[in-house]
Amino acid sequence: MTKQTVFSGIQPTGDVHIGNYLGALRNWVALQDEYDTIYCVVDLHATTVPYDPKELHDSRILTAKLLMAVGVDPSRSLLYFQSQVPQHAELSWILGSMTPLGALNRMTQYKEKAEKVGQMLGLYSYPVLMAADILVHKAHAVPVGDDQTQHLELTRDLADRFNNRFGETFPIPEQITPKRGARIMSLQDPTAKMSKSDGDPRGSVLLLDSADTIVKKFKTAVTDSEREVRYDREKKAGISNLLDIFSIYTGRSVEDLVDEYVDAGYGPFKEAVAEVVVGGLAPIRNAFNSLDDEDVSRIMARGALDARTRAEQEMADVRRRVGLGA
Ligand code: TYM
Repeated sequence: MTKQTVFSGIQPTGDVHIGNYLGALRNWVALQDEYDTIYCVVDLHATTVPYDPKELHDSRILTAKLLMAVGVDPSRSLLYFQSQVPQHAELSWILGSMTPLGALNRMTQYKEKAEKVGQMLGLYSYPVLMAADILVHKAHAVPVGDDQTQHLELTRDLADRFNNRFGETFPIPEQITPKRGARIMSLQDPTAKMSKSDGDPRGSVLLLDSADTIVKKFKTAVTDSEREVRYDREKKAGISNLLDIFSIYTGRSVEDLVDEYVDAGYGPFKEAVAEVVVGGLAPIRNAFNSLDDEDVSRIMARGALDARTRAEQEMADVRRRVGLGA
């Protein structure tokens, strides 16, 4: 039986954090065994907010390297930069003609970002390009954190509209989110998700942070004025977030951890969480340090070549269906 296709993407902002890892990347790695996996550094998406060209250029390689360091294996997964496969942008245009503005107006990520950087067309149509990323590979499933749910809903809607109008073309892609970790919160504001664009760098633990930095960030994590370590996402968002992280990194249940730490006091509890995260990130840092930029560039160039071949096959089908065939 042919394997089903999995596609996902990450923006190359460089600062990959444990939210990205726990919400999405560890699934990217795990799915490599069973699926035909395609992963993309979505550099065109990164141009939708103000940026520095030199920084973007460096961040692309850094992000690719980090993906390999966490275990995305180019011999098992197709890995490439989005901008090197122009079929993404081409399909985005075609899908754009089928996208009601009402759907884009509802996107919360657009509203949040537009407030900061202004109402720009690229930012507005970002979800259409994301749909094209997924559909250009006829992906069946998309591993992401839960902040991408709205974008995935639009993707499914566009696939369905296209299929109804031009005949069965795209599978309706499923979202894959982990049971725990789909939304890791900022350590400084546990009511907001951990985010690359968070103003306070202490809110995010980066994959390449040193052990000292990680310990400091957990020590200063915002919690509450009680003393009891217990899981309550609403009333004790900070502690619950730490329990989620602790549970994922140890493989122990939250109940078990609460039993052990309920009266330990927040200080020792935070230290214990920091320790398992430091241990969990050490292999990633080692793998990262052993990778060479030029090798990574070569791997990405080969990935783009293969991805173009695959995407072109699908686009030839799409063009024929919409009346733009050869
Ligand atoms: P990006 O680059 O913001 O994040 C990459 C992945 O990390 C997940 N994530 C989180 N998961 C849990 N907790 C958090 N605090 C957290 N922050 C981020 C995201 O859900 C994502 O899975 N729009 C996408 C990139 C994209 C894409 C695609 C994804 C473009 N085209 C096609 C999938 C398929 C984004 O900005 O992710």
